[in-house]
Amino acid sequence: MMRTAKIILFAALFLPALFAANVGAAAEAEQVFKFYCAQCHGLNGKGGGPNVTKDFPVTPRDFTNTAQMNKLSDNDIRGIVMDGGPSASKSPLMPPWGKTLSDGDVDGLVKLLRKFCNCKGKPG
Ligand code: HEC
Repeated sequence: MMRTAKIILFAALFLPALFAANVGAAAEAEQVFKFYCAQCHGLNGKGGGPNVTKDFPVTPRDFTNTAQMNKLSDNDIRGIVMDGGPSASKSPLMPPWGKTLSDGDVDGLVKLLRKFCNCKGKPG
């Protein structure tokens, strides 16, 4: 009897935590995006964040631009986010985040960007 009760108690405590962890990944990516990316790329990913002025020589990518975002593979995005714009012959206004964000954070951001563009990108 006690044993069953313990198992039920364990399930009741532990299963919701597992579920929360799953739901948490997408929400966490949104938090990371808000904190590190939105000032330039905009809260809605459209590129017009509050730090962008008319003096920017290039505008931060509008992630809802499906045609442009389809030119990038997931690995291209990962590389640009980790190593910055110049690593892909783009502007240094796109900073490198490899020392700030974990691989997991960056994977979450790739998924979020794919949600913004509603596209899968180039394979690879
Ligand atoms: C200080 C402003 C700034 C911040 C902060 C910033 N970016 Fe950028 N980002 C840019 C600019 C400007 C470009 C365009 C570079 C170019 O076209 O040469 C860019 C380009 C990109 C690209 C390449 C898009 C393409 O089509 O090649 C990706 C991907 C990207 N940013 C993701 C992110 C992510 C994810 C974050 C947050 C971790 C972030 N950026 C934070 C300014 C910023």
